[in-house]
Amino acid sequence: MAYNTSKNIKTNSMKQHTTEPDGRLGVLLPGLGAVATTMIAGVEAIKKGLSQPVGSLTQMGTIRLGSKADNNRPRIKDFVPLADLNDLVFGGWDVYSDNVYQAAVNAKVLEPGLLNAVRAELEAIVPMKAAFDRNYVKNLDGTHIKEATTRYEMAQALIDDIEQFKTNNDCSRLVMIWCGSTEIYMEESAVHSSLASFEEGLRNNDPAIAPSMLYAYAALKSGVPFANGAPNLTVDIPALIELSYLTNTPICGKDFKTGQTLMKTILAPGLQARALGVTGWFSTNILGNRDGLVLDDPDNFKTKEVSKLSVLDEIFQPEQNPELYKELYHKVRINYYPPHGDNKESWDNIDIFGWLGYQMQIKINFLCRDSILAAPLVLDLALFMDLAKRADMSGIQEWLSFYFKSPQTAPELAPEHDIFRQLFKLENTLRYLMGEDLIAHLDLEDYQDLASTV
Ligand SMILES: NC(=O)c1ccc[n+]([C@@H]2O[C@H](COP(=O)([O-])OP(=O)(O)OC[C@H]3O[C@@H](n4cnc5c(N)ncnc54)[C@H](O)[C@@H]3O)[C@@H](O)[C@H]2O)c1
Repeated sequence: MAYNTSKNIKTNSMKQHTTEPDGRLGVLLPGLGAVATTMIAGVEAIKKGLSQPVGSLTQMGTIRLGSKADNNRPRIKDFVPLADLNDLVFGGWDVYSDNVYQAAVNAKVLEPGLLNAVRAELEAIVPMKAAFDRNYVKNLDGTHIKEATTRYEMAQALIDDIEQFKTNNDCSRLVMIWCGSTEIYMEESAVHSSLASFEEGLRNNDPAIAPSMLYAYAALKSGVPFANGAPNLTVDIPALIELSYLTNTPICGKDFKTGQTLMKTILAPGLQARALGVTGWFSTNILGNRDGLVLDDPDNFKTKEVSKLSVLDEIFQPEQNPELYKELYHKVRINYYPPHGDNKESWDNIDIFGWLGYQMQIKINFLCRDSILAAPLVLDLALFMDLAKRADMSGIQEWLSFYFKSPQTAPELAPEHDIFRQLFKLENTLRYLMGEDLIAHLDLEDYQDLASTV
C-alpha cells in the first residue's frame, strides 16, 4: 500500500529544490587500482554499447511507484534525475604513475579485448601525484607522491588539484570516491574531535591524520561529496562530519559491500527472520590482488577485520535473542594467495540449529571477482552522491548503507546491515526526494478493491 505522510509536504518542495544534472560530472578517485580502473573501463565500454551495466542499481534497477495494481516500475535512472553516463569525466590520484589503461592491464581483471576497445579513453586518464605516507600502507612502494613539509600543505595541494581538474575538464560538479588502499588500523583521537583541532593537527603534522583524511578534508573544503570505499577511519570522525555540515556536503562510507559480506547480509537476515539459531560463522578468503598484498600486513588487516566482523551482531542482536545467538562465534580470515589474482575465493561454514535445537550446517564457496562486484557500487555512489548534493542533503547519507560493510550513521545510531532493509530505506528515500508516496508493502488498498467486488 502506498501511504501519505506529512513528510510529503516537505518532499514536494525537495523535488522542486533538486537541481537538474546539467553539465559534466567529474568523478575523482583517490586510488586508481583494480576497482577504480574496472569501473572506468566498464563505463567507457557501456557508453560504446559494448556491454551492460550489470550490478548497478542506478542503471538496471527498477523501483515500484504507487499501488501494486498500478504496475508502475520505472528504472531508477529514469525516475530520479541522475547524471548521464555520457556526462561523466574521470580523474584521480595514485602512488604509481601508470595511466588507467596500464593500471587496468596490471590489475588483470578485464580481458585484453575489452580494454583495447576503450584504450584511448583509458590512456588519457593519468593519475595526479598522491598524498601518501608509507607508514599507513607498508606494502606499497610507489614513488608518484607529492612533496610537502606539512599535512596542511599536502591538503592544500589536493584542494588545488580538485580546482584545476574541475576547470580543465569543464565540470559543473564533482564527487570523490575513495578507491585507495586500506590503511593501518586507527581509532578516533583528540585531534579528530573537532574541525579546529583537526586543522591545528594539519599544521602540526599530527600522525593521527592519515592520508585518506587529507583527501576527504580537501573534498569537503571544496564542497565535493566524499564516499569512503575502504574500511579506513577517514570521514568517520567528528571533525570531518562537522566540515561536511558546514560546507553542505554529503558524506558516506565505509568499505564497499561486495563478496563475502554481501552474502552474509543476504543470508543472515533470512536465518534471523525464521528464528533459526546460529552458533558459529567461520569465513575465510584467498585473494591475490594488490588489495590482498596490502591486507597481508597485520595492521592493515585489522582495519578490514573490524569492518567485516561488525555485520552479524547487528543482524542477530544476541542481547535481544540470547537463546538463538548468544553462543555465536564469528571469525574472519583473509589470506594473500597470488595465483588467484582478483578472483577471490571465499568459504563460509555456518553452524545453525533449528526446531528442538537440532544442528545443521551451511557451506558457501563463492568464486567471486572482487572488482567486478565493486565497480558498479562506485558508479552508483558517484551518481547518488551527486544527486544528494543537488538535493541539498548534507552530512551523513545513511540511506546509502546498502553499499557498505560498515555503514556510517549518526554517532548515537546503530548501523543497519540487513541488505533488504537497506534497500527499503534507499528506495523510500528516492520516493521521498521525488515527492512520491512512500511504500510500506501493506498493499491493503488492493485487497479493499477485491473485497468491494465480491
Ligand atoms: N574489490 C572489492 O571487492 C573491495 C571491497 C571492499 C573494499 N575494497 C577496498 O577498495 C580499495 C581499492 O581496492 P582495489 O582492489 O582497487 O585495490 P588496489 O590495491 O588495486 O588499488 C588501490 C590503489 O590505491 C593506491 N593508493 C594507496 N594509497 C593511496 C593514496 N594515499 N593516494 C592515492 N592512491 C593511493 C594504490 O597505489 C593502488 O593502486 C581497497 O581499500 C579495498 O580494501 C575493495
